[in-house]
Amino acid sequence: MRAAVGWPMWGLDDQEAMAMRVMVVGNSDGIGRALTQRLLARGDEVVGISRSPWPGEEAEAYTHFQLDVTADDYVERLVDIVAQWGAPQVVVYCAGIGELLVLEELAVQRRVFEVNLMGAVATLEVTLPPMLSAGQGHFVGLSSLADTGLSPQAPSYNASKAAMSRYLESMALAVADKGVSITNVRFGFVDTKMAKSDVRPMMFTVEQAVDRLMKIIDARRPPRRVTTPLPMAALVSLLSALMWLKLMI
Ligand SMILES: NC(=O)c1ccc[n+]([C@@H]2O[C@H](COP(=O)([O-])OP(=O)(O)OC[C@H]3O[C@@H](n4cnc5c(N)ncnc54)[C@H](OP(=O)(O)O)[C@@H]3O)[C@@H](O)[C@H]2O)c1
Repeated sequence: MRAAVGWPMWGLDDQEAMAMRVMVVGNSDGIGRALTQRLLARGDEVVGISRSPWPGEEAEAYTHFQLDVTADDYVERLVDIVAQWGAPQVVVYCAGIGELLVLEELAVQRRVFEVNLMGAVATLEVTLPPMLSAGQGHFVGLSSLADTGLSPQAPSYNASKAAMSRYLESMALAVADKGVSITNVRFGFVDTKMAKSDVRPMMFTVEQAVDRLMKIIDARRPPRRVTTPLPMAALVSLLSALMWLKLMI
């Protein structure tokens, strides 16, 4: 168990390292839930955000806020949380939805943008300034390999992830010399309720996804873009090229 909250000291083992203050947005299920559990198990202090209550055990080092990232008062509430709980050293934006296209229900497609894209933009708006003031901090966003392609089945998912990836990666370059890191994570399939497709090649277990995230969080020099698994990225690029070709003819 880590002793006190502070900045990580690389080279120390888990017993000696300082606990971190981590915010996980979208953590009542899937990757965010497993990541929260892993962080708590090693002694980090975590605040979680989702619409549902925290489904795990209560813990002294854990605080949960039931918030919808698309709510009108989300930014205001997040500002209060940061003021009350303290500025997080690491923020991981896991909130996301993916909805198949029903042409009679385009409002559902709009909601996908609101959660996947605008929720991340709003979270960065609130959590980046304290990191910049401190000259340190790390924002991790879960985008997707889907950010490269076109999808007639779920247009808003791919488009929202494309915008999220470009925004996070541009912001990563913008803050590069300010001591703050931004990482855009592009997973393929991960075994959660989100992965709805009948065919799910090279799928990660949730624990494999969390292993990658923990490495990113603990990295001395966090990467700006993580794409994994690479063979899946190659397959997605190939399928995307075919789709782009279809668009031309
Ligand atoms: N699973 C995959 O195959 C895969 C692959 C690549 C990338 N990703 C990305 O990884 C992230 C996590 O995915 P996952 O597979 O863990 O999905 P998941 O199991 O469906 O979990 C999604 C989380 O987002 C939260 N959430 C959804 N809408 C929200 C809202 N309006 N406000 C606050 N929280 C909200 C949900 O909590 P509540 O419902 O309680 O609000 C839930 O905790 C997503 O961004 C996803 O696009 C997933």
